[in-house]
Amino acid sequence: MDLRIKSYQEYKDNYAQSIENPEEFWSVIAKKFTWKKQWKTTLEWNFNEPNIKWFQEGELNITENLLDRHLETKGEQVAFYWEANDPSEVGKSITYNELYKEVCKFSNALRQSGVKKGDRICIYMPMVLESVVAILACARVGAIHSIIFAGFSSNALADRINDAQAKLVITSDGLNRGTKQVDLKSMVDVAVNSCSCIEKIIVLNCINSNPPMQEGRDVWYNDIIKGQSTTCQPEIMNSEDMLFILYTSGSTGKPKGVVHTCGGYMVYTAYSFQNVFQYEEGDVFWCTADIGWITGHSYIVYGPLLAGATSVIFEGVPTYPDAGRFWQVCEKYNVNQFYTAPTAIRSLMAFGLDVVNKYDLSALKVIGSVGEPINEEAWNWYFENIGKKNCPVVDTWWQTETGGIMLSGLGKLSPMKPTHAGYPLPGIQMVLLDGDGTEIIENQQEGYLCIKFPWPSMLRTTYGDHDRCKNVYFSNYDGYYFTGDGAKRDENGMYRIIGRVDDVINVSGHRFGTAEIEDAINTNKFALESAVVGYPHDIKGQGIYAYVVVDGTNSAEQSQIISSLTESVSEGIGKIAKPDKIQLVTGLPKTRSGKIMRRILRKIAEGEKSNFGDTSTLLDPTLVEDIVSNSL
Ligand code: WTA
Repeated sequence: MDLRIKSYQEYKDNYAQSIENPEEFWSVIAKKFTWKKQWKTTLEWNFNEPNIKWFQEGELNITENLLDRHLETKGEQVAFYWEANDPSEVGKSITYNELYKEVCKFSNALRQSGVKKGDRICIYMPMVLESVVAILACARVGAIHSIIFAGFSSNALADRINDAQAKLVITSDGLNRGTKQVDLKSMVDVAVNSCSCIEKIIVLNCINSNPPMQEGRDVWYNDIIKGQSTTCQPEIMNSEDMLFILYTSGSTGKPKGVVHTCGGYMVYTAYSFQNVFQYEEGDVFWCTADIGWITGHSYIVYGPLLAGATSVIFEGVPTYPDAGRFWQVCEKYNVNQFYTAPTAIRSLMAFGLDVVNKYDLSALKVIGSVGEPINEEAWNWYFENIGKKNCPVVDTWWQTETGGIMLSGLGKLSPMKPTHAGYPLPGIQMVLLDGDGTEIIENQQEGYLCIKFPWPSMLRTTYGDHDRCKNVYFSNYDGYYFTGDGAKRDENGMYRIIGRVDDVINVSGHRFGTAEIEDAINTNKFALESAVVGYPHDIKGQGIYAYVVVDGTNSAEQSQIISSLTESVSEGIGKIAKPDKIQLVTGLPKTRSGKIMRRILRKIAEGEKSNFGDTSTLLDPTLVEDIVSNSL
């Protein structure tokens, strides 16, 4: 199934068609997939409710499209090369035939465990092939997967399990990360203590740590797949049935479960994968994201497999055993398309070129970036030293909510410009709005990034709370999907992302709501109140700066209090959300009506000492001087 656009002119023509007649445009593409029953209505939509339905009454199973359909022609082709954390460990590979059998076996095991269509299953797993098998088995039996990144704490895991009312967790005894091993099973054990919905835990043995297994609840992955049939009838799914939930941070403390559905997500991830990366038969693709984030969902699992691609999946980290690991893996598998995050590039730049130049990167054709704005220095380094000035950099802008890439060049077809994500993909009606919600038509302007027409892989709701979906994404500007990002358009209409305009911080490409971090800090016995803001960070893009009001009567040492506060964030969310800076303060700058003036706190975190704009509404201006003089 070739969905590729092959020239820039063709892109422009397709874009024009996709705007003129979106339904016709997407139905031509959708017809190339395997449907059990053809859909009746291509699109029904209303951004006010919001109600978005693509390919209604169509029936399918996405796994038939990414496995069964390929078996005849690609059965013996490698679907994944798996590279272990430890470079001396022999890697594995799995062909489409083998993956199909493993998925069927695990699907049968899930059914035997009582899993039915519509049940929610939580996946808390390392970067191993069995994780892909688990994801696809859920999809095959019609269960809704909710993958929780394995860096989240047990509290965060419990919140997400409870929100989705999952009945089963799939996990492993632990995982390997560089020189460390992380225990996952004990995290799950603690989490499920407060999740009465959980009936079963399936545990994959990854690190031979022999964790305690609770009789009647915990089962080994290898035991339950034993003797299972290598074929499995896929569940028939409606196009608009839920495929998965993925939790993401927003401006309130509670993460929201972004819901994606089967038909539209399938069509758009396959289409965007082939076009952005210009993936051709025989190429080897590598996306370094974790399966716990949307990038892993769409461009490790679904997009590449739908396209019948061969990909690399990597268990480890970019700096182990040294900072040349990414490039060693690229050489080893002759990677043709490489997709990573600016934070990884920035951290690797610091190690110099010796660890890059040792390796043969000549197979590379396209190099990609995702998750945060890529600064010019990192862009140039990537283009010159990794792409050797021969590979286009595709700076892909998108979100958990968009399901797939919205803004990007298409391999070498499109013009590119450092730090600019570029143009919208066909079907994506991107606009900039001013503060009043009026569309900005001219170029060389800046505004709120919004989308004014549905695309197949857009979120449908936030799990269990449709009003929240409406309020967060569709209420700011009537009739538009609001991304939460600010952007500029250059003289040629190319988009450049400025960053979040809401209370979301993007740390190393991971999204955290400031309220979520504040909530975690506020559970600490020393904390009376807190305010968290982002600030520019050389490697992470944004760092986390926390101002915490502590109880003055407490005699504990400052350093003790700070480490205790840090621990509270690790426990509440996970080590990934630990503040980079914690400043203990006697009070927070508030207006007379009691609102924290975050604008001032943001400026202080950025290093400003004065020029805080209008501070006349502040209740206690001396507090600001105090915070500035003790700022970190
Ligand atoms: C940011 C990740 C600039 C943006 C796929 C967005 C980017 C948020 C880019 C979504 C990019 C993502 N340039 N900023 N190429 N890609 N972002 O949901 O702020 O984890 O709103 O999805 O990351 O993060 P999420």
